Amino acid sequence: VRVALGLLLVATALPAQQLTPFQREKTKQILRTQLPCLGCHELDGEGGRSAPSLTTVGERRSAKYIRGMIEDPQATKPGSAMPRHKVAPQVGELVARLLAEGAKGPDSPTDASIRSPGSASGSQLYEVWCASCHGVTGKGDGPNAKYLPTKPATHADGLAMSKRPDDSLYDVIAVGGVPYGRSPRMPAFGATLTPVEIRALVAQIRTLCKCEGPGWARDGKKP
Ligand code: HEC
Ligand code: HEC
Repeated sequence: VRVALGLLLVATALPAQQLTPFQREKTKQILRTQLPCLGCHELDGEGGRSAPSLTTVGERRSAKYIRGMIEDPQATKPGSAMPRHKVAPQVGELVARLLAEGAKGPDSPTDASIRSPGSASGSQLYEVWCASCHGVTGKGDGPNAKYLPTKPATHADGLAMSKRPDDSLYDVIAVGGVPYGRSPRMPAFGATLTPVEIRALVAQIRTLCKCEGPGWARDGKKP
């Protein structure tokens, strides 16, 4: 482990280090099948269009900035519209190196953030963080939907959503699709939004579906 860690540190210290063709393919495979990145970003023609292209990010940003966005978007670009995804260090390292190949842009953001911090209502939060995929009215038809391999859940569907307890909705929003066997394109928001904000989003889904969760899952109700 110590040797591997040493190698990793040496690799990290060399910013211009090239990925081998095998590492490049492996990293792209991870991006396509395990991470939420292509839900919002385009890479090699695949993926969402609600965030800047990752194919050309090196033309706009430095390696340091790219690494910062992967590790902690809010700290790198205050008010960022990108949720923080906790990636394993080795995976983050591969992704950072892939995206930073030939990077030459500035270290700090040059453009204004699009999210205004502060307290927001459930519908505002939904519009900022969810509507690009799920659609403003929760029909699963946001502008990104057509670029995703799995259709985003239809939060306006009263029949489907009435089968989902509030806790299940909360959990998927907090930890993302992967731990629940759902699409990796559904990002995790637990490292970006507060529990109060996530509960406001669950309430917003209830507004959109005009439904409640199953009786057995609600306080004070018998099945
Ligand atoms: C929910 C949508 C979303 C997801 C998922 C997402 N990002 Fe982003 N990302 C953004 C947005 C929006 C920006 C633009 C910066 C801003 O305004 O916050 C951004 C910016 C970036 C940038 C800087 C690009 C530039 O040109 O400034 C990099 C690099 C990046 N993201 C990498 C990733 C990686 C790697 C992943 C997966 C671990 C990922 N993103 C997941 C939305 C997302
Ligand atoms: C990058 C696209 C994308 C974004 C942004 C996104 N989602 Fe999703 N979401 C998906 C996809 C795709 C699925 C379907 C997963 C599946 O069925 O495998 C999904 C599924 C879900 C589910 C599971 C529904 C169920 O049937 O249990 C919930 C809840 C959810 N999303 C809530 C949200 C909320 C709330 C936000 C904003 C904070 C959000 N999503 C942002 C793509 C996205």
